[in-house]
Amino acid sequence: MDQARRLRAKTDRHPTTIAFASGKGGVGKTNVCVNTAVGLVELGQRVLIVDLDLGMANVHILLDAARSQTMVDCVKTRIPLLSAVQKHVHGVDILHGGSGLDALVQFSDSDMQFLMRELEVLTDYDYVLFDMGAGATDTSLQFIAGCDEMFLILTPEPTSLMDGYAYTKLVHQQYPDLPLGVIVNRAQSGEEALQCFERMEVACRQFLKKTIRFLGYLPDDPSVRKAVIAQVPFYTFDRKSDISWRLERILTTLTGTPPRQRHFMDRLMGNLRRQWNRV
Ligand SMILES: Nc1ncnc2c1ncn2[C@@H]1O[C@H](COP(=O)(O)OP(=O)(O)OP(=O)(O)O)[C@@H](O)[C@H]1O
Ligand SMILES: [Mg+2]
Repeated sequence: MDQARRLRAKTDRHPTTIAFASGKGGVGKTNVCVNTAVGLVELGQRVLIVDLDLGMANVHILLDAARSQTMVDCVKTRIPLLSAVQKHVHGVDILHGGSGLDALVQFSDSDMQFLMRELEVLTDYDYVLFDMGAGATDTSLQFIAGCDEMFLILTPEPTSLMDGYAYTKLVHQQYPDLPLGVIVNRAQSGEEALQCFERMEVACRQFLKKTIRFLGYLPDDPSVRKAVIAQVPFYTFDRKSDISWRLERILTTLTGTPPRQRHFMDRLMGNLRRQWNRV
């Protein structure tokens, strides 16, 4: 038995892994991911956010945390991944992927072995949430495919729906078994959110033969902007706001969902190995 398997057999507990993704940028992925994390922490869960937005470290900005070393730095300099995890930022732990994450495909044999061993640190959490950048790259798709579920963030605008569908199609063509949940953000009403979801659901069912689930919606709420400026999660900033109440409903749906059987590490490592062998 290799070391990774031994560790897993010993602890026998796996985090639930979720990728927050979108086709179009700026639809609220980081805000939804960060506030979901904060809400889960309040429910007594241990949560790690992995910031895989390669361009900008948005999670750090939203939570007013200092920039730290990244996952890629750790691999390149053989530093334990844990040393790059920032602990207890509004109760949440954060790991920044690093802007050179796409260099993953050029990692050497020993780089990959190091990363695989180090990723075992993820098993200490109940939830690992991946904040993805907008759009898809080969590497980001592999992280998404490794997750238990992808949460697609949509807004009711037609451009968000079209890009969201194109993105889903791309992911589905490569990883048809990946469960997909939808959160509609910035909705003017519950009715508008449901209409948005239904359009997506019909397209996925008719053209991709894929079933997707509705996780809930978040309203367009002025407290988000104020919270972003104050660098505080909106869930902490104003607990009585409409959006905080709606997030609570999403958290109830989320925590009531049983986790998938296969472990994130097995899927991710399988994906990375496949890509790596192609290079
Ligand atoms: N529900 C909401 N109500 C009002 N404003 C919102 C809401 N959600 C997001 N916003 C606004 O949209 C901006 C972009 O949100 P966010 O950074 O979370 O998007 P993103 O999808 O992560 O963007 P990127 O694709 O650049 O990573 C926020 O700064 C905030 O001002
Ligand atoms: Mg973002």
